[in-house]
Amino acid sequence: MPAKVRKAVFPAAGLGTRFLPATKSLPKEMLPVVDKPIIQYGVEEALHSGIQNIIIVTGRGKSAIEDHFDVSFELEDLLEKRAKKDLLAIVRNISDMINVAYIRQKEALGLGHAVLRAMELVGQEPFAVVLADDVIDAETPCLRQLLDVYSFFSAPVLAVMEVPRENISAYGCIDAEPVTHNNTNDRVFRIRDLVEKPKASEAPSNLAIIGRYVITPDIFDSLQSINPGSGGEIQLTDALKHLLRSRPIYAYRFDGTRYDAGDKLGFLKATVELALQRPDLGGPFREYLKGLKL
Ligand code: G1P
Repeated sequence: MPAKVRKAVFPAAGLGTRFLPATKSLPKEMLPVVDKPIIQYGVEEALHSGIQNIIIVTGRGKSAIEDHFDVSFELEDLLEKRAKKDLLAIVRNISDMINVAYIRQKEALGLGHAVLRAMELVGQEPFAVVLADDVIDAETPCLRQLLDVYSFFSAPVLAVMEVPRENISAYGCIDAEPVTHNNTNDRVFRIRDLVEKPKASEAPSNLAIIGRYVITPDIFDSLQSINPGSGGEIQLTDALKHLLRSRPIYAYRFDGTRYDAGDKLGFLKATVELALQRPDLGGPFREYLKGLKL
């Protein structure tokens, strides 16, 4: 059995320019989808996948994230006095169940650079990386699906999904061969090569990397060896390509729906779809939508 994955790294130092002016003073990770901050969806996914230790890589102006996962004494005291048990449970729930550590990324030098900042806190053990912008709605949490593949192959695993060819240049892309696993051959792939944000005409496939990774600690050596890549940034995709020289890496076409909540349209789609699923809102919201003259 490979070592257990106990920690998840959440890069959250980005400037969130796609959501200005909202993100001038509010971290984009704190924008609410229905009533939960984007980052909480990822944290709950990690928790439901069996990972309680959360490492958040933050930057300037991100203190609202720390407050969110901390105890809010005044609020809890007020809710207790007013006997608002349901609200109290909602507020307490998440901070009670996780251990959170924070590390600062002083300069936004790329996703790979953010992950490298977590090296000391991760130590010499396998870990997950969760990009909170990718909100994934799935019956079995996406990270849990990856962890099962990781346990089987004892190797790093990345989440992938098929995207239209013309969109591949917004993603990391893999060149890979299908592997038979659990009697199917269209979910697991052994990676041959990876490229960050290729031109559509040069992309080796339409399999895009989505923001869930299970990685072994030797990635830190790779992150320290590579040069800046796409956008002049230290890319996690480039470090994985470097790591591929010394060990096999797999990709998993996960089961679930992914929303790019870092993009305005994706954010709106996530809001509508997740609101429709809510027992308290779904009914009246559906009625409202039906009445719209579209
Ligand atoms: C990052 C990764 C990219 C991946 C994407 C998924 O890019 O670098 O490989 O496909 O997340 O959301 P970003 O969207 O931060 O530019």
